[in-house]
Amino acid sequence: ATTLASAAERSGRYFGVAVQGYKLSDPTYAGILDREFAVVTPENEMKLDATEPQQGRFSFGPADRVVDHAARLGKRVRGHTLLWHSGQPSWLAGLQGSALRQAMLNHVTQVVAYYRGRVHAWDVVNEAFADGTSGARRDSNFQRTGDDWIEAAFHAARAADPAAKLCYNDYNVENRAHAKTQAVYRMVRDFRARGVPIDCVGLQSHFTANHPVPADFATTLRDFAALGVDVHLSELDVEGSGATQADSYRRAVTACLAVSRCTGITVWGIRDSDSWRASGTPLLFDSSGTRKLAYTAVLDSL
Ligand code: XIL
Repeated sequence: ATTLASAAERSGRYFGVAVQGYKLSDPTYAGILDREFAVVTPENEMKLDATEPQQGRFSFGPADRVVDHAARLGKRVRGHTLLWHSGQPSWLAGLQGSALRQAMLNHVTQVVAYYRGRVHAWDVVNEAFADGTSGARRDSNFQRTGDDWIEAAFHAARAADPAAKLCYNDYNVENRAHAKTQAVYRMVRDFRARGVPIDCVGLQSHFTANHPVPADFATTLRDFAALGVDVHLSELDVEGSGATQADSYRRAVTACLAVSRCTGITVWGIRDSDSWRASGTPLLFDSSGTRKLAYTAVLDSL
């Protein structure tokens, strides 16, 4: 295989990328996107501040630009994200209690219904657990409406598009032993046991020197998968450069390939210059769009 998408496809997996709509007019950017990737995640265009900037007034233009581009090229879309503590419009901050709960569920319903049939998987809830050793939920306006806000969101999403896969997505859940990983694991297990409609878990997989690819990454993926959900590496990037970085990418991809329900990998940007990180070279293409060692390591591992 000569592209990431076709290499991943050989084992029935997808290889995707986060895309920023305004960059689609850059021919280098669009050229790499069109050639290499089978699935697209709008990097910011589906977040709450973008899709519902004022309460009840939805704005789908920026997200549609990405979704339409993907559709024209036969690529699928991973929706990101319906509910997140960050990226909220100011009107949401003024609500609480049942008014907030209602607005939150209406948001999920309206966005999922609008994209029904065009988004194959949704990150319904993003980053709802706290860092550190508590295993607790993250404090947020949504959380303050009651612990059941996450399952309520999944039920609303399922009702709005029964065919879409519904994911819970988070970061620093790649180490099996970490309290946050265990807390997410227990929630997914509980959801599966009680029939809350969850189909997948996204492990963001933002790796750094302080948070390297764990030696037992495949174990984490396998344990989530054993709960009856698919797992996705949903926002993969690796701080660093050269052979060390390439090796981390190789180990992340190899872990996914070792687990049959690890169904796909998304990298969080195309070129190093497209990365959300303030500095560094975390992606597969350099700033001029040339394939890096990390690219070759991923292609050869798929
Ligand atoms: C980031 C985007 O990449 C940036 O462009 C934006 O300014 C902030 O959000 N985890 C997530 C993503 O789930 O939504 C974040 O994306 C990166 C961390």
